Amino acid sequence: MSFKNDQVSLKETEYIINTASECLEVSGDFVELGCYKGDTSLALAEILKTSDKKLWIYDSFEGLPEKSSLDNSPLGEEFKKGELLVTKREVKERFLRAGLRVPVIKKGWFADFSSEDLPEKIAFCFLDGDFYKSIRDGLKLAENKLSEGAILIVHDYNNPALPGVKKAVDEWIGTRKLQVLETCAIIS
Ligand SMILES: C[S@@+](CC[C@H](N)C(=O)[O-])C[C@H]1O[C@@H](n2cnc3c(N)ncnc32)[C@H](O)[C@@H]1O
Repeated sequence: MSFKNDQVSLKETEYIINTASECLEVSGDFVELGCYKGDTSLALAEILKTSDKKLWIYDSFEGLPEKSSLDNSPLGEEFKKGELLVTKREVKERFLRAGLRVPVIKKGWFADFSSEDLPEKIAFCFLDGDFYKSIRDGLKLAENKLSEGAILIVHDYNNPALPGVKKAVDEWIGTRKLQVLETCAIIS
């Protein structure tokens, strides 16, 4: 399959795929918080083709929210409220066209989801919400669901255009192990 993605580099996508594949033996499902049009979601669904695990994907489907002051960067002017808008239907149709199992697709703001909106346990989580509050809220949602051995990848941790991502992760990380690859934080 082609890994065309205008939000995540090819190297990062390959790393996400390899890391998620290693989580096939970990208890729980795969989650993506901030799926946009579903490029990474399609790659994750491909990995799960022969697995009982489910893929759960989340997005406002209203585009990006408002930035907070923690997100301001002269390098990130293009990240504005309402950018990256796609519909839930468009994303669902991409899975159908690709002949892949349609994931659980949830529309809403991360802050408005509750624990019941997530799977019982998470084996792999990709968090890609661009802004401080989006990452903070996503981490809060996922943290109590992560299984022993689960891996969480946060996109844009090392991206100076989106400084709120690093702030949210650094506040949350505690004693967890963190590695950085390109812009991604890999947390285990
Ligand atoms: C960079 S895009 C995600 C790209 C996608 N992960 C991929 O690999 O193609 C960020 C997405 O996060 C969503 N988003 C950001 N903050 C959010 C929030 N607080 N609640 C819900 N969705 C949010 C936006 O609507 C947007 O679609």
